[in-house]
Amino acid sequence: MGRTNGTTKLTAAMAFAFCATLIIMLPQVSAKRFIVGGSMGWTTNVNYTLWAANQTFYFGDWLFFVYDRNQNDVQEVNKTNYETCNAEHPIHNYTTGAGRDVVELNVSHDRYFISSKGSCYGGMKLHVHLTPLPPPPQAAPLKSHSSRFTVLRSQLVIPAVVAIAALWDSLLLRV
Ligand SMILES: *[C@@H]1O[C@H](CO)[C@@H](O)[C@H](O)[C@H]1NC(C)=O
Ligand SMILES: *[C@@H]1O[C@H](CO)[C@@H](O)[C@H](O)[C@H]1NC(C)=O
Ligand SMILES: *[C@@H]1O[C@H](CO)[C@@H](O)[C@H](O)[C@H]1NC(C)=O
Ligand SMILES: *[C@@H]1O[C@H](CO)[C@@H](O)[C@H](O)[C@H]1NC(C)=O
Ligand SMILES: *[C@@H]1O[C@H](CO)[C@@H](O)[C@H](O)[C@H]1NC(C)=O
Repeated sequence: MGRTNGTTKLTAAMAFAFCATLIIMLPQVSAKRFIVGGSMGWTTNVNYTLWAANQTFYFGDWLFFVYDRNQNDVQEVNKTNYETCNAEHPIHNYTTGAGRDVVELNVSHDRYFISSKGSCYGGMKLHVHLTPLPPPPQAAPLKSHSSRFTVLRSQLVIPAVVAIAALWDSLLLRV
């Protein structure tokens, strides 16, 4: 009896280990989280055209906007309204109210984000162009300034991002 229980437990443990190994071996996609503006965050007096030119954005990456919620916000607009700083017809209002907003780069076309609070005219506007090809294994680290972390597609991505968002205040800049 005891022997049978032991065997059952061992079998269960092996099955668990096997499943865990399978999960780990699933195809992995490398998604990067960009803090928009790096250590400056999303604020005035940063040229986001210059900042974006230094980054390589791929489909599936994430933008984290970190900013003073009393001063700014995050609106996605189209190209025309990006150029003219017109926030009257946003495609999407990403402002949640906490000064920490997350955008998944899950569509392949170019994205345009502005602050609707007047700072857009001074350059507080971000154009994200996705690099179409998957990251070449050697080229990606050269352009990386923040860590690229590996996550499993779909189910684990959202919890990972939520967990990271929860760590923002302790790990990252305060604004
Ligand atoms: C772009 O990256 C280079 C190399 O890391 C750095 O020296 C430069 O300050 C960066 N420029 C911007 C605008 O972030
Ligand atoms: C952007 O939206 C405005 C309306 O708010 C429209 O007049 C304009 O043609 C659009 N531009 C593009 C590039 O779709
Ligand atoms: C965007 O959404 C936030 C939160 O719902 C809201 O407080 C804010 O007024 C909205 N901004 C615009 C420009 O619609
Ligand atoms: C992109 O992600 C957002 C939320 O992160 C979701 O609302 C939207 O439906 C997604 N779009 C596509 C095309 O998957
Ligand atoms: C940001 O830098 C680019 C390249 O130097 C320049 O063309 C652009 O006018 C600058 N934008 C602002 C708002 O200063």
